[in-house]
Amino acid sequence: MTAMHEINRESWDEWAAIHLRDATGFYNIAGFKAGDDTLLPIEAAEIGDVAGLRTAHLQCHFGLDSMSLARRGAEVTGLDFSPVAIEGARRLAAETGSATTFVQANVYDARRELQGEFDLVYVTWGAINWLPDIARWGRVVGSLLRPGGRLYLAETHPHAFNLSEEQGAYRVAFDWRNAPDAPTVYQSQGSYTGDETPLVHGRFHEWAHPLSAIFAALISGGLQLDRFNEHETLPYRLFPSLVEEERQSFRLPDGVPRFPLSFSLWASKT
Ligand SMILES: C[S@@+](CC[C@H](N)C(=O)[O-])C[C@H]1O[C@@H](n2cnc3c(N)ncnc32)[C@H](O)[C@@H]1O
Repeated sequence: MTAMHEINRESWDEWAAIHLRDATGFYNIAGFKAGDDTLLPIEAAEIGDVAGLRTAHLQCHFGLDSMSLARRGAEVTGLDFSPVAIEGARRLAAETGSATTFVQANVYDARRELQGEFDLVYVTWGAINWLPDIARWGRVVGSLLRPGGRLYLAETHPHAFNLSEEQGAYRVAFDWRNAPDAPTVYQSQGSYTGDETPLVHGRFHEWAHPLSAIFAALISGGLQLDRFNEHETLPYRLFPSLVEEERQSFRLPDGVPRFPLSFSLWASKT
């Protein structure tokens, strides 16, 4: 495990503890316990029928989406490298009677840590930016899927990922791609949920992956691209002036030239 990876994990442990308290209601844990589905509009519209699908949810955080997929009938294993997140996920599964299994592991070790082949690998919102080597990730995904099995990926659009906004003006602020040993390093004060609990560690290493690298990763995993969509919404406030049009669906304000904020894709193992 590299130092960068270990620093990220420590910081994610802190964020997971904050998110499990859900003081701002961002994760709607109370609603989830009462039966709400946590899939957001984009994936809810695209995921289709998952009943009976053996599903690996990679970088599952504390498992709300894993358990929402299970409520839709999928047989789900969630994987995340944060022990705090996985412990929280197991606790929520026990509380809500979910049969979802949770495994604590680095995503790069997923083939070794998870048993058997999967019909669906599910990866959404703020996952691949934590991974230094996207081609290696593609090979892991390919190794988890049975022939004909499918990857669903929904993520921040690379076009938006390297911009920052100040008072309505967007500028290129970050590299469009990062080499594995040259991530963007930043220090976070609080959480993207709006909870301002100060972080002890709060240091993160992130990697931007352009679409060409994501597509190349699919190819190196033996996957073929079946569908690719670009969206004008995103489930978190990437830029300060984004407008929340419905719960966890943010769009650019009126008067700003449109550009894609997120993308989603389906790819299948050949
Ligand atoms: C923004 S969250 C993803 C949230 C996800 N959309 C969900 O279903 O809630 C990112 C997650 O990636 C995990 N993570 C980051 N790097 C990882 C790695 N190398 N291996 C496994 N998990 C990792 C973090 O612990 C965190 O839970």
